[in-house]
Amino acid sequence: MEIVVSGIRSTGNLHLGNYFGAVKNFIKMQEDNDCFFFIADYHSLTTHPDPDSLHHNVKQVLVEYLASGIDPEKSTIYVQSDLPEVAELYLLLNMHAYKGELERNTSFKEKIKTQNENINAGLLTYPVLMAADIIIHRANKVPVGKDQEQHLEMTRTFARRFNHIYKTEYFPEPQAYNFGENLVKIPGLDGTGKMGKSEGDGNAVFMSDEPDIIRKKVMRAVTDSGPEMMNQEKPVEIQNLFTIMKAVSSADTVEHFDGLYNNCEIRYGDFKKQLAEDIIAFTAPIKERIDSLSGDGEYLKKVAQRGMEKARESADKTILEVRQIMGFRPF
Ligand code: TYM
Repeated sequence: MEIVVSGIRSTGNLHLGNYFGAVKNFIKMQEDNDCFFFIADYHSLTTHPDPDSLHHNVKQVLVEYLASGIDPEKSTIYVQSDLPEVAELYLLLNMHAYKGELERNTSFKEKIKTQNENINAGLLTYPVLMAADIIIHRANKVPVGKDQEQHLEMTRTFARRFNHIYKTEYFPEPQAYNFGENLVKIPGLDGTGKMGKSEGDGNAVFMSDEPDIIRKKVMRAVTDSGPEMMNQEKPVEIQNLFTIMKAVSSADTVEHFDGLYNNCEIRYGDFKKQLAEDIIAFTAPIKERIDSLSGDGEYLKKVAQRGMEKARESADKTILEVRQIMGFRPF
């Protein structure tokens, strides 16, 4: 049995990228592993959310996890800030995390480019907090999307360094995990990079989107003027739509449109219509559960409370042992 940890920032609704990158694998793993899934609300603070929206966003992510199939009877679901042990481990790990390596992190470098006016220390040490989230339960496996690969590499570095400094094998080196397959990257609809919460309007399809919104977003997705040669390589914006189709549609459907593309007979209008309907069919049962769970405050409170208790039991044990290893001793 493996110890599995995964998380999601509470900065927006769950989109198809989150689902296929992280949540789907976690759901498969929860059947026969010791699984922890948490809502990273501390991580959301790097963008300074206003206090009224903070709790709302955490609740929304909790609802969307549960609606997607994360089962509180099988897994431990909790809110990151309910575990003071995480904040403590973050502090301890920070003492062995070096400015140079943190500055070389690709996501940090991106942030410097895109949100230059708010480069705070939380952003710089984001990977340390993420490492704390993972090793607080001494996890071995972390189901995440491709974009988190480098963060996992850093987590292993911090775990290894701790072991080395304190001459112990206390922390395992956790692996980003997708059942032996490559990690997933679901592209956005705008023809450029990945699907993301903060990549601009219309780039992401959210599990909670109404069917009409999904149709609009997909119909507006960037395409080109169509193939000009048989079997030509697809340009990135078209390949992106095929990648999304592979995730939500049947193999026959993908093959059908692939064949049309290769014969230069594809009509993007039909292709997008099919893609939109398949996304809608895929998200509909999840959306239905999102709508019904949203109003069930009592149930959500129970899940969060129970999750916190279970997660703290595991985190508390780790922090006591870490303190012991590092030399914090009671009088
Ligand atoms: P976040 O909230 O950006 O994304 C949550 C999960 O969704 C995956 N993901 C994607 N996968 C495939 N294609 C996409 N377009 C796509 N967009 C997002 C992410 O890889 C991630 O698995 N730092 C993390 C949250 C976090 C965490 C952790 C995750 C904090 N501590 C510890 C795992 C373990 C983040 O911002 O993810």
